[in-house]
Amino acid sequence: MKSIPKIELHLHLEGGAPPAFIRGIAKEKGTDLSRIFREDGSYSYKDFWHFLKVYEAATSVLTTPEDYARLTRAVLEESAENGVVYSETFISPDFCGGGDVAAWREYLHAMEETAAKAEVELGITLRGIITCIRHFGPEKAKPIAECAAQTKGSFITGFGIAGDELIGKPKDYLWAFDCAREAGLRLTAHAGEWGGAESVRDAIRDLNVERIGHGVQAITDLALVDEIAEAGITLECCPGSNVFLGVFPTWREHPIETLRERGVKVTVSTDDPPFFHTTMSAEYDRLADTFGWDEEIFDEINANALAAAFCDEDTKDRVAKKLKKGT
Ligand code: HPA
Ligand code: ZN
Repeated sequence: MKSIPKIELHLHLEGGAPPAFIRGIAKEKGTDLSRIFREDGSYSYKDFWHFLKVYEAATSVLTTPEDYARLTRAVLEESAENGVVYSETFISPDFCGGGDVAAWREYLHAMEETAAKAEVELGITLRGIITCIRHFGPEKAKPIAECAAQTKGSFITGFGIAGDELIGKPKDYLWAFDCAREAGLRLTAHAGEWGGAESVRDAIRDLNVERIGHGVQAITDLALVDEIAEAGITLECCPGSNVFLGVFPTWREHPIETLRERGVKVTVSTDDPPFFHTTMSAEYDRLADTFGWDEEIFDEINANALAAAFCDEDTKDRVAKKLKKGT
């Protein structure tokens, strides 16, 4: 599966940090982070909410634009190794200058420069989606949206929301989403991972997003599934993440195949790959084993992802050629 060219739309940048990378930076800075690692070196947490805390602890050692340049390179190497030719990553200015636009620009410059170099060297194209963090609250989301609006460009193409979906409502973040929309950014929101079908409905209706991060709980409301299919809203599905965190007990019970059969545009991503012990190749392997997905279906999935990608048309044309070359 490694050699099949792939598109990934849902990857949290710090969530892609290999544990050894974070341990190395912690050591350089003299920070003791041993509590967030197991003896075997992997990240240690007990559930999604604890995961968010461990994620933020790991992120706390990344304090400079140079750290983010190194992180970007490490994440892109891993993605390219798994056949990813185009990737969109969630980046939170909360962790990169705390919402100050001037500081954020420095972090962004470091990441963009690293991505441009990696594109030449590794053959993977990266774009950034700025995310506000739901459990930090609506007021904190405002300067984050302003960072996004002011740095929209060929690299920063979208805006979204991550974090604890069970806190507040999508409409609490309307100011931030309106600010990003008015700047011309494309929109996505995490919903329907831990919240029910209603949370997906709310995100679509109140924030007017064109993609949903996860969205898989829509499966409990088939009228909503049909509306999603009809509206052409793309779901950024992360089945390995969902099964690892216990959203669904087994791969068999994951609704991605039912959603696809009902006409929803589904895509496949890893979310936070080392945290959930997955890779894009592993996701493809499990989908082939569980649902009998073959090359034709993976082509369909990548076509969905390319159509829903937030990059410009020239970039899409270049990525489309890479997808074709692989087949
Ligand atoms: N889900 C929600 N918020 C997050 C995640 C995630 O997987 N990773 C980092 N923030
Ligand atoms: Zn996510």
